[in-house]
Amino acid sequence: MRMRRKPWARPELAACPYFFDEAVTRRGTWRSLFRKAQPLYLELGMGKGAFIAQAAAAHPEINYMGVDIKSDVIGVARRRVESEFEAVGRTPDNIIMTAFDITRLPTVMDEHDKVDRIYINFCNPWPTGAHHKKRLTHTRQLMNYRNILADGGEIHFKTDDDPLFNSSLRYFAEAGFEVIHMTRDLHANPTADNYVTEHEIMFSEQGIPIKFCIAKMVALPDAPVEAAEAE
Ligand SMILES: C[S@@+](CC[C@H](N)C(=O)[O-])C[C@H]1O[C@@H](n2cnc3c(N)ncnc32)[C@H](O)[C@@H]1O
Repeated sequence: MRMRRKPWARPELAACPYFFDEAVTRRGTWRSLFRKAQPLYLELGMGKGAFIAQAAAAHPEINYMGVDIKSDVIGVARRRVESEFEAVGRTPDNIIMTAFDITRLPTVMDEHDKVDRIYINFCNPWPTGAHHKKRLTHTRQLMNYRNILADGGEIHFKTDDDPLFNSSLRYFAEAGFEVIHMTRDLHANPTADNYVTEHEIMFSEQGIPIKFCIAKMVALPDAPVEAAEAE
């Protein structure tokens, strides 16, 4: 996501009680950072935070953790969190945010940091074959997510990109995830609680249907787990 520099972002995050810097130092302790022990949903690549801010404000019974690699964009997300919670008369007590590179997830989260659900909304499609392993839905990344997903945990995935979506369906099967819900036009077949993201609005306005699926973690397949390098 390209964005003009936000000089205010880092100072605001430094003063934010629910932003946690130096993510690697929190490994194994993420759940203890919440006021209440309750289900934990993780959003990977939250961008400007429209999704997680709306979801967390609407669901005090769930804890939310938002991750992005860019501090400036997390600064924008923090402001969105503040405005969504203000609109419902709550303080943000069921959300935390942090910055790290998701491809290095095992250095930041371990089996003590179990999450019940992962959201991946409009991740970079990395169209070139040599870069497919960087996709946040690639088999290699899914195998990392298995270590932090609770039994029966789910990945909720939205994208505008057909090749990424088609490949992801294969990645899910390779990494032991069963697709239990799927639509190739989410807005024509809406699901409950679809909080629209910035990219979702942009692609919808361009007339591009939004692809969506829910993949549930099940047993690993018998065949060796190795995704193709290129498609
Ligand atoms: C295309 S934007 C989508 C943002 C938002 N989810 C939405 O739907 O509008 C992808 C976001 O993922 C973040 N991102 C991409 N690769 C990442 C990585 N390896 N680790 C952490 N964040 C990443 C980017 O900084 C960007 O904010």
